[in-house]
Parts: sequence; structure tokens; C-alpha cells
Amino acid sequence: MRIGSVLLSLLLLGGCAQAGTMTVKGERPVAPHPRFGTSRHFDADLLRFRLAGAQREASAKRLPAIPPPRHIDCMRRKCVALTFDDGPGEYTGHVLDLLAAHHARATFFLLGQMITDETRDVVRRMASEGHEIGNHSWDHASLPGLSSESLRRELDRTQEAVRKATGVRMRLMRPPYGATGPALDTETKQEGLAQILWAVDTLDWLNRNPTVIAQRSAAAKPGDIVLMHDIHPTTVQALPRLLDELDRKGFTYVTVSELLGSTTPGKKYTNR
Ligand code: NI
Repeated sequence: MRIGSVLLSLLLLGGCAQAGTMTVKGERPVAPHPRFGTSRHFDADLLRFRLAGAQREASAKRLPAIPPPRHIDCMRRKCVALTFDDGPGEYTGHVLDLLAAHHARATFFLLGQMITDETRDVVRRMASEGHEIGNHSWDHASLPGLSSESLRRELDRTQEAVRKATGVRMRLMRPPYGATGPALDTETKQEGLAQILWAVDTLDWLNRNPTVIAQRSAAAKPGDIVLMHDIHPTTVQALPRLLDELDRKGFTYVTVSELLGSTTPGKKYTNR
């Protein structure tokens, strides 16, 4: 239907161009193109714009196939849950490549406002490769300072953005800055979201040093949730080293839900 209308526009544009072989006074006539006539009447920008719109619409309707959850016994195996906050961003695709090379699943706490036409495909890829997606608010507001209406909006808009992009209904959230409180406890309980904090803070936003970040992550103990941010290039640079190190120690990389098993909405978790 859409593709048809684009083709129709193309033909119409071609037709208009052929019909209107005008010459401006003083200019030499241009030999008409067999399809588009004289090129100055052919609006390539408009055509590109329409084609891009049709492609956007087609891709907006495509939902990823989500792999089934794995049953990993983290009582017997050394599990670690790597988590990445504040994306999706320009480095997220590279993070997914590195994780794939180590058969590692991780959890991404996304900001709703970062899910755009440009980043939607990487969010879909995340879901299709078995990573977990969690809610990190719409715009990284400190949630305890908000009215209950604004707080709900921060969570709901992000739930909706992820649902539209992937079909996934998120069951985890991470409060920006780890800032929580009674109002957030109540709201997350009502919305069916567990609050996920962390056991290991790499402080990768503060120390932009891949060696230090890799050392801090690799110090994780079995059952830990590790906090990182996929928006910093230094964190991405640290990843190969920290994955090698955790591989060497015999860790299995799991999502937060795989680590914790069932979670209770409203409740806070830092590790297993
Ligand atoms: Ni954050």
C-alpha cells in the first residue's frame, strides 16, 4: 500500500517533469531525461523524503523475535549480571557486538527519550539477542522529587516507547542516581516493576579510564549486579578486557531476571 503510493508519486513526479519542459529566458534548453524530463523540474529531495518516510513506517511495524528465557541455576554456577544504563546511544551497537562475541547476555536500562527513529533498531536488536530491557525513566529525572503524576509519566512513557519498539513489557526499573523512596516504592509496586540497584559500581561516568573500569567490573562476586553506562566510549573500550577477565574466572553472563529468578514489584534488589 505505502510502497505503491511512493511508486505512484515517483511516476507523477516523472510525468510532471516531462510535461513541464520550460526554458528560462537566456538559458540553453537542457536535453530532457527519458524518464524525468529536464532535471531542474525533478524534486529528488521530495522523493527521498517520501521514501524515507515509507521505510520508517515499515520498520516501525517490525517487532523482533524474542528468544525464550534461559533456565540457569545461579546457585551452582558463577553468575554475574552486567547492566548498562542511560542508552540507547551511539556506542550501544558496538556493546552488543562485544557481548555477542562472548555469548554474554546483559541488561540495558533505557531512557525513553533516547528511543528514536535512529536508535529503535538497536533496541530491537537488544531484545532479539536475548538481552533484558529495563526502565530508567523518560529523561533521567531524580524521581523522589516529582509529583506522583510526573513520576507515573516518567515510567509510563518509557514503558510505552519500549513496548512499541519491541513488544516487550518491562518488569524491571532502575531509578536514576539510585534515588528511591516511599513514593517510588508505591508507584513501582502498582506498575509491576521491581527496583534494580547494584552491588558493584564501576563509577565509569567519573573515571574515564578503561583499565580502572575493567578492574572494578572484574572484581564482581558471583551473584552481583554490575553498574556501567554504554554512553561512554571508555566503558566500551573496557569491555573486551573485563569480559576476558570474567571468562577466565568462569562467570556466566545472565540478565537481571535470570539472576534473580522471580522478582517482586516495588521491591529493591542489589544482588542475588
Ligand atoms: Ni542513569
